[in-house]
Amino acid sequence: MSVATPLPHDSATLHVTGAARYIDDLPVPAGTLHLAFGLSEVARGAVTRLDLAAVRAAPGVVAVLTAEDLPFANDVSPSNHDEPLLATGRVHYAGQPLFLVVATSHLAARHAARRGHVAIAEETPILTVEEALAADSRFEDGPRTWRKGDVGAALARAPHRVQGRIEMGGQEHFYLEGQAALALPQEGGDMVVHSSTQHPTEIQHKVAEALGVPMHGVRVEVRRMGGGFGGKESQGNALAVACAVAARLTGRPVKMRYDRDDDMIVTGKRHDFRIDYDAGFDATGRLTGVDFTHYTRCGWAMDLSLPVADRAMLHADNAYLLDACRITSHRLKTNTQSATAFRGFGGPQGVLGIERVMDHVAHVLGMDPVAVRQVNYYAPMATGGGGLSAPRPAAPPEDISETESAEDITSRGAQVTADDRVAVPAAVANATPYGMAVEDFILHGMTESLLATSDYHARRAAIAAWNAGQPLLKRGIGFSPVKFGISFTLTHLNQAGALVHVYQDGSVHLNHGGTEMGQGLFQKIAQVAASRFGIDVGAVRITATDTGKVPNTSATAASSGADLNGMAVQAACDTIRDRIAACLAELHQVAPDTVRFRDGAVQVAGDSMSFAAAVTTAYQNRVSLSATGFYRTPDLAWDRIRGRGRPFFYFAQGAAVTEVVVDALTGENRILRCDILHDAGASLNPAIDLGQIEGGYVQGAGWLTTEELVWDDHGRLRTHAPSTYKIPACADRPDVFNVALWDQPNPAATIYRSKAVGEPPFMLGISAFLALSDAVAACGPGWPDLQAPATPEAVLAAIHRARG
Ligand code: MTE
Ligand code: MOS
Repeated sequence: MSVATPLPHDSATLHVTGAARYIDDLPVPAGTLHLAFGLSEVARGAVTRLDLAAVRAAPGVVAVLTAEDLPFANDVSPSNHDEPLLATGRVHYAGQPLFLVVATSHLAARHAARRGHVAIAEETPILTVEEALAADSRFEDGPRTWRKGDVGAALARAPHRVQGRIEMGGQEHFYLEGQAALALPQEGGDMVVHSSTQHPTEIQHKVAEALGVPMHGVRVEVRRMGGGFGGKESQGNALAVACAVAARLTGRPVKMRYDRDDDMIVTGKRHDFRIDYDAGFDATGRLTGVDFTHYTRCGWAMDLSLPVADRAMLHADNAYLLDACRITSHRLKTNTQSATAFRGFGGPQGVLGIERVMDHVAHVLGMDPVAVRQVNYYAPMATGGGGLSAPRPAAPPEDISETESAEDITSRGAQVTADDRVAVPAAVANATPYGMAVEDFILHGMTESLLATSDYHARRAAIAAWNAGQPLLKRGIGFSPVKFGISFTLTHLNQAGALVHVYQDGSVHLNHGGTEMGQGLFQKIAQVAASRFGIDVGAVRITATDTGKVPNTSATAASSGADLNGMAVQAACDTIRDRIAACLAELHQVAPDTVRFRDGAVQVAGDSMSFAAAVTTAYQNRVSLSATGFYRTPDLAWDRIRGRGRPFFYFAQGAAVTEVVVDALTGENRILRCDILHDAGASLNPAIDLGQIEGGYVQGAGWLTTEELVWDDHGRLRTHAPSTYKIPACADRPDVFNVALWDQPNPAATIYRSKAVGEPPFMLGISAFLALSDAVAACGPGWPDLQAPATPEAVLAAIHRARG
């Protein structure tokens, strides 16, 4: 069986030999033109002069476009029509595209773009959380609040209480392949676009709007991305639209890629957050009430900020049953890059908030931080009788109407007022703050297992003893679990399509709506197809994502690529398989369900023939060997305005223990060891899943340690190259890195009972941050109050605080 086999990534050889084609590697027709944007250097103001004569006169320049030259829509927003491709009179962040240079080479376009004479009447930009709050600069009318129980009363009654604040920085995606697109004009005004995008349908949609043509006039193709990480859900729109518009105006093929500095200056990043907390708890560490306030800098345009901020709220509980809580979210509009999707999509920020509370509680009570977490965990999944939870599938909460949950995300303001309280129905036990029963919680067992394999308790004691005799180097150990909700919270996105052809020789052409960004989606889906036909995965040809083959796709995001597309491909394959079986059954006068497909052969009525022979027979009997497949996730109902419902199909879970060492003189530090136990359900491909877990962890640790974004007082990003922005390198991988899969089937009916794995392990990187905090705490009696990213400077500041 092909599924569950640890096969390498289908393009592994192409990747390491350099033969894998990315957009910039595609052979282009003669006469292809190249683009570069002229960028605003001012964060906020009115454009008073845009003199582009020198740009037009520069060598190689074919055309220079401003907003007025665009034939149709000047908009690249994925959500709100608030993101012009080229600025219209005002600028909203330093890096905003003002004009577009069309030239004969990439370098000529870039050189020319520097020659614009631009004057902007600079206004004081709104940059920080404080400035945005003071100016009431925000998306939506006011903060959004979700509640469970009476948090005020719970806090007032609590035997113990802590208040605090944690700030966490944003994060640059740093995909190895930068944003890129190539537009090829066709006859009759049609356009073919190659784009490095997670969302081909959105590219098709925005290009069609910009060209004033129906979506059928645009076809988008994506073979692979050199990484996306959420940064290519919406941020590729500008390049694709620019290429298509220039191709239409010149009649020539047009390519655009951002230089790395431009990529960092122009495109959105992870949202930085400030989270304030007020928590009440008892002597056992059990939280009795918690009040979170999220402040997030969304940047200048809406983009995906509302669902990102929602997902942060949806993960404010992480793995813990909260009896009384309030979560308030401020979505602040600032004169910075428009923050966007990034692995976890707000989830990591929400999770860090409550993980910080757990550590703070442990510090106050002098308890082991793991014990505090275990006391607060959700009740475990019922394993045959007696448990808290009901078997799946649970009915969605009754009070959610279809129309409400399908409401456009941008169409409603903050009508929910402070007294509009929604009580959790008493019947829903073990419920999240948003009223969803947690029925598949497995972290109790996973935690015990990980504590044993990582030798946690003995190492904690050994570290304490070592620290007692060490004034300069301090070690620390941190534990963090993750429970991550799987499904798009915009319910209608939870659908997928597939197109499968079987050729006369038994070879299979596989296509679906998902995109490949290095996460191994294509190989997993090919394994599903091979398993359905009982053939070797080598007989399945993986093909580029193409809006002309599978239409109306959702972004490959929310970790749901394999869940959604795997099911759609299964449906398509089964349709074809059933047709072949019916044909053979009729020829042999047996029942169709007696026909077996396995080991590359088809067995019917005691006969065995190769899959290819069976296919040839079906073809000769005029059986259609091509089918589409479709899937929609069941049992979802979600009202984001009220924060009630069942937004997720299931939860993916995991836990990590990280050990670090800190130099107390300089704040410099490194990760010594990491042990992870992660839940990928019954893994479709354990090799690929382990890679996702390792990569996710390191990227998560990077977010909270070395990766620091710095803007100056004028709102200019100062960290726009690897010289100043430090992503983890190979040497930053933990010296000891033990990663294991929990490997239990998903109780929810997913494809082969697997679980999504793309984003959840990112949050395990939080354990590295908690370990640093633990090491700092060893420097003194005080609470370190470490802030993220924990750069050496931040660690040193925390050491001073801890020492008092
Ligand atoms: N892994 C690699 N190598 N490259 C990527 O760009 N993106 C992550 C994750 N893992 C990413 C990755 C993000 S943000 C998501 S949502 C998922 O992969 C998307 O793919 P999936 O749904 O197939 O897991
Ligand atoms: Mo991932 S942030 O959902 O693209």
